Amino acid sequence: MSYKVKDIGLAAAGRRMMEWAESHMPVLAEIRREFSRTKPLRGITIGAALHTEAKTGVLVRTLLAGGGKVAITSCNPLSTKDEVAAALAREGVHVYAWRGESTKEYYSNLNSVLDFRPQILIDDGADLITMIHTRRRELLDEVIGASEETTTGVNRLRIMAEEGTLKFPVIAVNDSPSKRFFDNRFGTAESTFQAITGMTNTLIAGKHLVVVGYGFVGRGIASRAKGLGALVAVVETDPVKALEAAMDGFQVTSMAEASRWGEIFITATGGYKVIRAEHMKQMRDGAILCNSGHFNVEIDLEGLRRMAVSSREVIEDVREFKLKNGRRIYLLAEGRLVNLAGKRSLGHPMEIMDMSFALQALSVVYLAKVGRGLAPRVYEVPAEIDRRVAELKLRSMGIKLERQTKEQMEYSASWSFGT
Ligand SMILES: NC(=O)c1ccc[n+]([C@@H]2O[C@H](COP(=O)([O-])OP(=O)(O)OC[C@H]3O[C@@H](n4cnc5c(N)ncnc54)[C@H](O)[C@@H]3O)[C@@H](O)[C@H]2O)c1
Repeated sequence: MSYKVKDIGLAAAGRRMMEWAESHMPVLAEIRREFSRTKPLRGITIGAALHTEAKTGVLVRTLLAGGGKVAITSCNPLSTKDEVAAALAREGVHVYAWRGESTKEYYSNLNSVLDFRPQILIDDGADLITMIHTRRRELLDEVIGASEETTTGVNRLRIMAEEGTLKFPVIAVNDSPSKRFFDNRFGTAESTFQAITGMTNTLIAGKHLVVVGYGFVGRGIASRAKGLGALVAVVETDPVKALEAAMDGFQVTSMAEASRWGEIFITATGGYKVIRAEHMKQMRDGAILCNSGHFNVEIDLEGLRRMAVSSREVIEDVREFKLKNGRRIYLLAEGRLVNLAGKRSLGHPMEIMDMSFALQALSVVYLAKVGRGLAPRVYEVPAEIDRRVAELKLRSMGIKLERQTKEQMEYSASWSFGT
């Protein structure tokens, strides 16, 4: 068996972590029971780059139950839970992941997953898919297709598809309503505040909190911040989103103005250097900066380091930068996605990942069935899969869905309204 983890002796603890997650993921449990009977992934090798933590472990177990073979690495050098990596390795998964990988190790681990010649890829951020298109092109022909978990990954893949560079079909799991409306919005918001308060022990109520980006993630964060009693300002580049934020009751302003006002800053744009040195120079003493977007490029870290006269880790995952002007700035989790990269960050709640990973599992099966006939483009998750996941979730929550009457269906399907 081939794996590379921090300490295989942590497997028993990892198994318990996965069991806890499993007992809160009823949709995936239902799919797993079905997979155990039907084995829809028999003979399929799946290569995954996902945050290797407990909920992902439950997805991996579901794929194994379906008859698939799985090789996995993390999609972020800091987001692996070493206990879970060890437990999966013990269960026969090819795992190449540990918390604190160097950049070189991160790419070497992606390569190790590709060495298993996967036919289906599950990616989060598109690093695995871009690697096979650049450094491992000899493997391209064997790939049936891939599914992508997050906005940043889907954006990259759409650019590849438009350029004609993409060589296999990709399902944009991120864009399906059963993912984006819940995972990006509620999942990221709750886990972001769990991480910030867990790392800093700071009070949110009464604070000036700046959310940069008012997309699905930013909207959720701003609304939770308001619920926790913060005074919230939003920074946006899109006029429609800015207007939406204003009508949702937030102050909307420029980054330059927000810099002077804010005490806590959270980036959620998927963009590049949205908080730069010129902004950090204006910030008040003790400002806290963190990122909930996918990559660690939203806060200009080089700019911050250049401006600083000294830096030290004050407490775990909290780095203090002392600036020439005497003020201190605190950066959480190295500017990596704060809800997953911190030592004690837990990622999205289990009930949320239940839906996101149910979509992943069903999308993988869909690819196994029809992927060979699809052109190399980015596809939506089929509407029946989206609906099925939502219905299973509702059922697990004991919530009843109203059904249309025959008469209502006829009315909705007509243009003449009986005239
Ligand atoms: N931390 C997590 O667990 C997690 C979960 C889901 C998504 N994500 C990531 O979060 C990021 C945002 O995802 P989303 O689904 O909200 O995307 P989105 O496209 O819905 O929203 C991004 C918003 O940022 C705005 N924006 C872009 N550049 C900006 C700038 N310079 N200043 C201010 N606003 C700017 C855009 O106009 C847009 O409204 C992505 O990187 C995504 O991959 C992270």
